[in-house]
Amino acid sequence: MGTRPPAAALAATRRSPSALPCTAAKAPTPHSAADGAPGHSHGDGHDAGQATCTERFHDVNRWQRIFDDPARAEWQKPNELIAALAIRPGMRVADVGAGTGFFLRYLSDAVGPTGRVVAVEVETNLVSHMKNRAKDEGLSNVAVVLTPLDRLSLPDRSVDVLLLVDAYHHIDRRIEYFRAAAGALAPNGRIAIVDWKPGDQPRGPRDEDHKIAPEVVEREMTAAGYRLVAAPDILPYQFVLVFAPLDGTIPAR
Ligand SMILES: C[S@@+](CC[C@H](N)C(=O)[O-])C[C@H]1O[C@@H](n2cnc3c(N)ncnc32)[C@H](O)[C@@H]1O
Repeated sequence: MGTRPPAAALAATRRSPSALPCTAAKAPTPHSAADGAPGHSHGDGHDAGQATCTERFHDVNRWQRIFDDPARAEWQKPNELIAALAIRPGMRVADVGAGTGFFLRYLSDAVGPTGRVVAVEVETNLVSHMKNRAKDEGLSNVAVVLTPLDRLSLPDRSVDVLLLVDAYHHIDRRIEYFRAAAGALAPNGRIAIVDWKPGDQPRGPRDEDHKIAPEVVEREMTAAGYRLVAAPDILPYQFVLVFAPLDGTIPAR
């Protein structure tokens, strides 16, 4: 009988690159009991399906290999996602937690020369990387901005769509964060949240603690002052939830 590899090694070989464990490096930000978002920072007690996965993304080379894996477009379906979100020429889109900028050229093409894409990141290394990338790829309608962890630093009423791909679960105090973020939305603006579906999948984190259930996202966004307006089931491994401010009103910031 052959020697069986340890379970952890087997699991690791089955993981997609993006299933790397969340190695805490940021100081954990505790949740207030009042914000209704009992996610976790590492070391905190937490419930599965409500993750706040606090993780550093400053190693550009590492994350480039993962986020810009050539095989990603096949399952990430960026153009199908953009079509489902009705992102069209002339629109202003913010890619919040844009990482290495995987979505930038797709968004740039979709909004065209009369539109604008803003890549928003908390990691200075990724901001520098995306600035170079946008320049190298000739994406003249793309701007890259550094944002603080706890606040979306975009001008009032400046975007039609806030897109978060695999980023929502990294944000702490989400109800407060998105209540304030509504101020960045133009009239009829939308927030599109794409994150990993719960359960064992060939892509995405295998640890359920690092996933957030779509029901939790909806509950938190409702508490933050939004209503769910669409949930296109178009991606194999991620859910897509689209929110609009309640009653179309944009809260003041
Ligand atoms: C899993 S990566 C996803 C990157 C990119 N959206 C993609 O799909 O390739 C999550 C990103 O969110 C960023 N991030 C974490 N907390 C954030 C916050 N509070 N505001 C904006 N970005 C944040 C991280 O630095 C990281 O680049």
